[in-house]
Amino acid sequence: MALPTINPTTTKAWEALQKHYESIKKTHLKDLFNESASRANDFSIAWEDFYVDYSKNRIDQTTKKLLLDLAREVKLDEAIQHYFGGSTINETEGRAVLHTALRAPSTHEINVDCKNVVPEVTAVKKKIKNFCDQVISGALKGHTGKPFTDIVNIGIGGSDLGPAMITEALAFYKNHLKVHFISNVDGDHVHQHLKDLDPETTLFVVVSKTFSTQETLSNATTARKWFIEHASKDAVGKHFVAVSSNIPNVTNFGIEEQNIFPLWDWVGGRFSLWSAVGLSISLSIGYENFASLLEGAHNMDEHFKTTPFEENIPVILGMLSIWYNNFFNAESEAIIPYSQYLHRLPAYLQQGIMESNGKSVDRNGKEVTYQTGTIIWGEPGTNAQHAFFQLIHQGTKLIPAEFIGFKYALFEDQDHQDKLMANFFAQTEALMNGKTESEVIEELSSKNTSDEKIKQLTPFKIFEGNKPTTTVLIDKLTPKSLGALVSMYEQRIFVQGIVWNIFSYDQWGVELGKQLATKILSEINKTESYQHDSSTQNLLKRYLKK
Ligand code: F6P
Repeated sequence: MALPTINPTTTKAWEALQKHYESIKKTHLKDLFNESASRANDFSIAWEDFYVDYSKNRIDQTTKKLLLDLAREVKLDEAIQHYFGGSTINETEGRAVLHTALRAPSTHEINVDCKNVVPEVTAVKKKIKNFCDQVISGALKGHTGKPFTDIVNIGIGGSDLGPAMITEALAFYKNHLKVHFISNVDGDHVHQHLKDLDPETTLFVVVSKTFSTQETLSNATTARKWFIEHASKDAVGKHFVAVSSNIPNVTNFGIEEQNIFPLWDWVGGRFSLWSAVGLSISLSIGYENFASLLEGAHNMDEHFKTTPFEENIPVILGMLSIWYNNFFNAESEAIIPYSQYLHRLPAYLQQGIMESNGKSVDRNGKEVTYQTGTIIWGEPGTNAQHAFFQLIHQGTKLIPAEFIGFKYALFEDQDHQDKLMANFFAQTEALMNGKTESEVIEELSSKNTSDEKIKQLTPFKIFEGNKPTTTVLIDKLTPKSLGALVSMYEQRIFVQGIVWNIFSYDQWGVELGKQLATKILSEINKTESYQHDSSTQNLLKRYLKK
C-alpha cells in the first residue's frame, strides 16, 4: 500500500482538536484580532506574486499547531513523496497520479514502473506546439484551402471543464481563433453551435481520455455527420483531431493515428488540462502562454513539495477546510473570484474537489465515520454580492468563503478596478465584523429614525459577523499565475484526501448512473425491457407516450 491508511479520528491531534474546538468555537474573530497586533502577519503567506491572508479564520496559534500535527500524524509528508514519486497512489484503479509530471521541466526524471515519463510528455508538448503554431498562423488549412477560424472542443467533465475554464479565464490573451465547447449530450447544445459554424473553417478537437464516453461520442458523431453533409467524408481527416489514451477506439471512430494527441493512464480526467486535453487552450492563447500556465503550476507544485507545512499554502488551506468541515460541521464552502474572467472557476473546482473527495469508504476499505468532501459553490464578485451573499452574512449556516482577487486589472481601468477591489476588501471585513446592536441603533438614530421604528428594525439589521474568509490576492491574472492558482487547489484536494484517508483519484460513484442510462436507452429504443420501481416506470411511460 503506497499511501498511509490512518484513520484521522484515531490520532492524538484529532482528539486535541475536538477539545480545542470546544474552547474556541464561540470566540469572535474581532476578539482574536484585538488580542494580537501581529495576527494579519502571523496568519498570512507571501509567495511569488501571491499573498494568502488566512487571518480572518476562526483559528489561533493552537489551532494551527494542532491542524499541522494532524497533517503530520496522518503522514502527509510521506504521502507527498509517494505522489510526486510516481507510486501507484490511485490504488483502486492501479495507477500513479502524475499530472504534476505534465508541468515538470523536460530535464526532470519522473519514473512510472521504472520508466522515465518526461521524454514522452516532452514529445507530446512538441506535437501540441507544432500543431498550434500551424493552425494559428494559418499554415494548416481546411479542405478548401481556407485557414481555420473556429475550434470546437467536444468533451465532457475533465475533458471540457478545465479547457473551458482556462480559455475563458485567459480570454485577454487569446488570438483570432474562436473556441467553442460542446459537452452536454443534450442535442440542443451541439446543434445550437453547429448552426453558426462554417464547415470550411472549423476544426473539431474530440477530447476523451477513454474515448468511450456516451456524451462525447454522440456529439462527435453528430458533428462528423454534419461535417460530411456540408463538406465530404474524405475531408474529415483535415477537420477532426482527437485527444485520448484509447488509440484503437479513436481510429475505429475514423480519426487517423497521426491526428491523435495521446495522454496516459496516470493523468486523471479532472487533472488533465495540462496534457494534450489542453489543446484548445493552446490553440486559443498560443503555445507560449500554455507553457507559462504549466510553469506557474509547476512552481506551485515545488512550493507544495518543499515548503514546511507552516508556510505551505495548499497545506494550510486544506487543513482549514478540514477544520470547518470536521469540527465546525460546515456544510459547504464558497469560492468567490473577484474577476469576471474566472466565472467558470467554481464549476471547474466542483469537479476537481467533489469528484475527488466525495467518498465514504476509507483506504482500508471501511466505511468512514466522519465527514469527507466539501460542497463547493460560487460565482464571481461583485455579482455574487447581489445574489447569495445575504445568506452568508445573515443566514443560519456557517459558510467559510475564499476570496480571490487581483491587484492589477488587465484593461487597466483603474476606476473600475478600485471599485471592484473596494468591494473585495469590504466583504471580508463585513463578514468578520458584522454589525452589533449598538452600531445598528446608532446608525438608525443618526438618520432621525423614531424610537419605535428603531426597536422594530434593530433585530433584522444586526449582523453577527464572525464569518470566516481567506483572501488570495494575486498581482495579475496571467497564464502563469492562473497555473499556480489551479495547482494550489489541486494540491489542496490531495491534502484533504490524505487526511480523510480516502482515495481521491477514482470516481466509481459516477458509474451506476451511466450503466442504468444505457439500460434505459435500450428500453426507449425498444430493444430490451427491464423492471423498474413504480416511479421510474411511470416517468418512462409518460416520456414514451407521444
Ligand atoms: O463521468 C466522470 C468522468 O469519468 C470524469 O472523471 C471525466 O473527466 C469524464 O468522465 C470524461 O471522461 P473521458 O475523458 O474519458 O471522456
